[in-house]
Amino acid sequence: MTNPDEHMIIALDGPAASGKGTLAKNLAMALNFRHMDTGALYRASAYEVLQNQGDPSREDDALAGCNTLKSKILGAENLNDVLGNPDLRKDETGTAASKLAAIPAAREALKSIQIDFAHEQKQGYGGVILDGRDIGTVICPNAHLKLYIEADTEVRAKRRLKELQSKGLDVTYSAVFAEMRERDARDTQRDTAPLHAASDAIMINTSHLSEEEVLSKALSCVREIRHS
Ligand code: C5P
Repeated sequence: MTNPDEHMIIALDGPAASGKGTLAKNLAMALNFRHMDTGALYRASAYEVLQNQGDPSREDDALAGCNTLKSKILGAENLNDVLGNPDLRKDETGTAASKLAAIPAAREALKSIQIDFAHEQKQGYGGVILDGRDIGTVICPNAHLKLYIEADTEVRAKRRLKELQSKGLDVTYSAVFAEMRERDARDTQRDTAPLHAASDAIMINTSHLSEEEVLSKALSCVREIRHS
């Protein structure tokens, strides 16, 4: 394991709209760490499948999507060129991503991108943050800090509704809530790498905390590691 003062690896896991993406961005900015939103890899793979009129629950379609994404990433100057497509944020892409993510071969295909990112030390950065569902349990079981971010389902559905409405999408609370429950069930009940907190993860419930309060809790966990 690397020295956390030279290259710290932070794993953030949790369900959709728990606040882990916002925390990951804020932490990366505060610490000058690189950040990978691993959900975007699943979303982008599923998007490729949908573009080809495929079915993200079928193994061969899902693998083709992952392989197309991998070759796009290899050919790109930076990850954001491939993962910055706003269509990836749509709920239908999220649902397709969670279907694809339940297929073991698809998870395996996307594994090395995440592991390589986590372990590559880049000049000028103190470490990396990966956020997803299985970072602390499968991708980086030796991460220096593991945080499990959660929030009540109602709070998460309201956050997601606000986010989608701010993008001009015509959605209702009940539809967003139902979609979220369905996706949570698929993510927590799948056989391979189901969503759950690693036994050594620190839990943060963001239901009643501001963005700044969540960041401050996470930063105090980082400080403890640096001083231990
Ligand atoms: O985090 P986000 O909602 O963008 O992720 C989309 C879907 O990708 C999740 O519902 C989950 O099924 C899948 N995913 C995963 N493992 C990760 C990240 C995302 O299974 N590390």
